[in-house]
Amino acid sequence: MRAIPFLLPLAVLAGCYSDPMSQRGFSLPEGDAMAGREAFLYMQCNQCHTIANEPMPDIPGAEPYVELGGKVTRIKSYGELVTAIINPSHDLADGYAAELVSEDGESNMYNYNRAMTVQELIDLVTFLQPHYKVFVPETAYPEYHIRAAR
Ligand code: HEC
Repeated sequence: MRAIPFLLPLAVLAGCYSDPMSQRGFSLPEGDAMAGREAFLYMQCNQCHTIANEPMPDIPGAEPYVELGGKVTRIKSYGELVTAIINPSHDLADGYAAELVSEDGESNMYNYNRAMTVQELIDLVTFLQPHYKVFVPETAYPEYHIRAAR
């Protein structure tokens, strides 16, 4: 029985590596950020999205309610952004009430998979990724530091 704590991580790892749905080997080619911005506008992503620090024209009647980019505690990877676009329900955006952004666990985002070219997807991700800025949260124990300094 003592072997179980040692074998368990191995079993988990083996499980990951044999998973045909794993992201192993995923690598996105370099895209064109300007083309991505254009695609963002002609596909009217700004109907529902604003982008942090990047003013976008308004679409009459639309009220964007999900901000893309901005401060995150760890890098938004290309893989996460591709997934957010082609499989939005897989992992709903953080920081919003589920009922605001989804219905029965399904993202309210449109499905573009039959309309978007692979090149448009690559360009969109190249455009969006640098808008995510990693910030390190301040320590949650300010009192401890004050006391320790005394
Ligand atoms: C009809 C509204 C709507 C449109 C149009 C739309 N989205 Fe979304 N999008 C959402 C909602 C709601 C979410 C949050 C739920 C989720 O994560 O799927 C979201 C989430 C995202 C996320 C993940 C955000 C995060 O921080 O996790 C990305 C990236 C994204 N959308 C990109 C796009 C792109 C690119 C387009 C245009 C091709 C687009 N969206 C069009 C509604 C929309």
